[in-house]
Amino acid sequence: MKLSMLSIFLLIMGTSSAHLTELRHWEIASRDPDRIYLTFNGDPATSRGVAWRTSIKIETAYAEIAPALGAPGFDLAARRCKAETDVVNLNQVEENTQKTVHFHQVLFTGLQPDTLYAYRVGDGDQRWSEWIQFRTAKQQPAPFSFIYFGDAQNDILSRWSRTVRMAYQTVPDAAFMLHCGDLVDHAHNDNEWSQWFKAGGFLHAQITGIPVLGNHEYVGSFRAQGEKTKSILWNPQFNLPIEKSLPESLHKTCYTVDYQGARIIVLNSNKHQKEQTEWFKAQLERPGAQWLIVAFHHPLFPPAGRVYFDDELRNEWLQLITRYNVDLLLQGHDHSYLRGTLPLIDQIDSFQTLVVTSVSGPKQYPSQTDSAESFSEEGFNEDRRGENGQFFQPISINGDTLTYRCYLADGELYDEVVIRKDFQTGKKTLQSDSYRGEERTFKNTPEYNKANL
Ligand SMILES: [Fe+2]
Repeated sequence: MKLSMLSIFLLIMGTSSAHLTELRHWEIASRDPDRIYLTFNGDPATSRGVAWRTSIKIETAYAEIAPALGAPGFDLAARRCKAETDVVNLNQVEENTQKTVHFHQVLFTGLQPDTLYAYRVGDGDQRWSEWIQFRTAKQQPAPFSFIYFGDAQNDILSRWSRTVRMAYQTVPDAAFMLHCGDLVDHAHNDNEWSQWFKAGGFLHAQITGIPVLGNHEYVGSFRAQGEKTKSILWNPQFNLPIEKSLPESLHKTCYTVDYQGARIIVLNSNKHQKEQTEWFKAQLERPGAQWLIVAFHHPLFPPAGRVYFDDELRNEWLQLITRYNVDLLLQGHDHSYLRGTLPLIDQIDSFQTLVVTSVSGPKQYPSQTDSAESFSEEGFNEDRRGENGQFFQPISINGDTLTYRCYLADGELYDEVVIRKDFQTGKKTLQSDSYRGEERTFKNTPEYNKANL
């Protein structure tokens, strides 16, 4: 058997996807829809956004939606919506082999609350996806669960897939999945996005997603200064709300979701942060939420010690979080696990905000406690750390009780706390002794496998 120069090169390089020049079949856009992703865009009780990809051969695309029934004829009641189509030239970035693809988006509106729907996307003729089912939210506060993930980022298909799939196995009825930034390593790299979509598979289409923008969804300077370019794929592939009061560069990266009594506020900690502060405050002040959850990528209390924010901005956002009694702050970026609490202003022994940083992909950083003392002076009380683990966090809200859990990718429970909240006074208690295993460290866990990171 003769080996071509390419084959020899690939044998030397191993199977790392980053080095392959030939596209895998699941990377190649075709007439059939793929990368189907469901999002909140508008009221979760009455609307949903969807986006998907095809080759440029599909110039006009459609989605259909109908209430889901047990009978196979549910589709007779389907209504059809024409998609808006974006042309994305992937080839404008050197690292991409594929050239131009189409992304299509539809916004489903006028849906009935608390109703199971089935939808499909396609060309309106022969090239349809399967019918995919999701339930609209109730209009009033009601129990639900969701799953929060830290950075996926590296070796995504090979080793992140098991985290997201175990998460689904653990909480199959999750109302949504929140990805707290750095979904991929290289913002424009279509191979990495292909991996992310293949790893999540039908879950991305079935369980509504809340994507948060991380620094790796930008190309450019890591620090706050300097020009950064957002992933050319972010806007086409995520059908997200536009906050018109914010600068255009922040559109589809800062948004809120009001879901059955909880408000999830997504910020963009990468760019034009100060311009977000007033908007952030307005979302916190707006009435109608029993629970306030804030998500942005960079941690205010970084477990691996990588302080990102300048002091002024950090203080500003921290003050808003404590002044407005935020219940839960979710973050990523530091590739290590840390859960702690913030107290009420001037009441150091009280509990006010649960603060978590986590990681779901294989890249791991050592825990760094040098800043713990200064964080403690700010009132941050460390509760649980964890090194060398791929985690996911199911969070359940039921009336006045929020249950937070953290699992490892093998399904083992690592951390659990329960918050009880008095909606009249806003006062909360934290029950944190319900789960206490040994703290994970690099020393007491298997050797860290850096392959493909
Ligand atoms: Fe990051």
